[in-house]
Amino acid sequence: MKQNIYDNATFFKNYTALRASGINYNNFVEQPAIKSIISSLKGKSVLDLGCGDGHFSKYCIENGAESVIGVDISNNMIDRAKRINKDNHIEFLCMPMEDLKLSNQKFDLIISSLSIHYVEDYAELVRKINRLLKTNGEFIFSTEHPIVTARKGNNHWIKTKEGHKLHWAFDNYQEEGMREHDWYVDGVVVYHRTISTLINTLIESGLVLDEIIEPQSTSAGLKQMPKLINEKRRPSFIIIKSKKQN
Ligand SMILES: C[S@@+](CC[C@H](N)C(=O)[O-])C[C@H]1O[C@@H](n2cnc3c(N)ncnc32)[C@H](O)[C@@H]1O
Repeated sequence: MKQNIYDNATFFKNYTALRASGINYNNFVEQPAIKSIISSLKGKSVLDLGCGDGHFSKYCIENGAESVIGVDISNNMIDRAKRINKDNHIEFLCMPMEDLKLSNQKFDLIISSLSIHYVEDYAELVRKINRLLKTNGEFIFSTEHPIVTARKGNNHWIKTKEGHKLHWAFDNYQEEGMREHDWYVDGVVVYHRTISTLINTLIESGLVLDEIIEPQSTSAGLKQMPKLINEKRRPSFIIIKSKKQN
């Protein structure tokens, strides 16, 4: 199933407002970590999977990438990406990343920021990514951490009557597959995978594991969004970097 929730008007309005505020998990937890793991962008050809409004594609160009292609399933996102980046020479394609062909192109870096948990067939996607990488090319992606996606339903913090967070409830870990949660709208679909699936699928496709980050908040984040202290109790995201050696 390919859900296109970012084209839901309510979802899109709330999501873009959250990102525009600058006060969010992306800015204070995930983005600093994924940026820190990129070796270099100078002269690189980059494919940005699930590029959203293209802000990461823009970051790549601003930091020396030679070319960037951004791909996203959402018309809303790609329209916005084209508008924001009209002077940036980035190519944006509106399609599910699963359907990408690009048979004549290979990339130095394939990046995907918080989009792969929306893809059902991770193994097929990783095989495609391997084919699209040049030798020594890197695949870097962030995804919701399996600690966060494992349990079914919402409200994973177990709290006292006063609302104090006692602990994070963790369950259903080995049961991979679809999870529905409520985020601005009901029934947002993501796919839960275990750590071993996330990693072994890369290895089975021939990629070599390079680095893993389970990020915490930056200190600026802790000041502006005090609840990010909870990233010390359980990570929201995992970032994995692998390489194609031949
Ligand atoms: C959390 S947003 C992240 C956007 C962007 N990478 C960023 O960091 O700002 C997830 C994005 O993945 C896109 N997406 C979800 N499923 C997709 C799929 N199957 N193929 C391509 N894009 C997808 C959504 O439309 C959305 O723009």
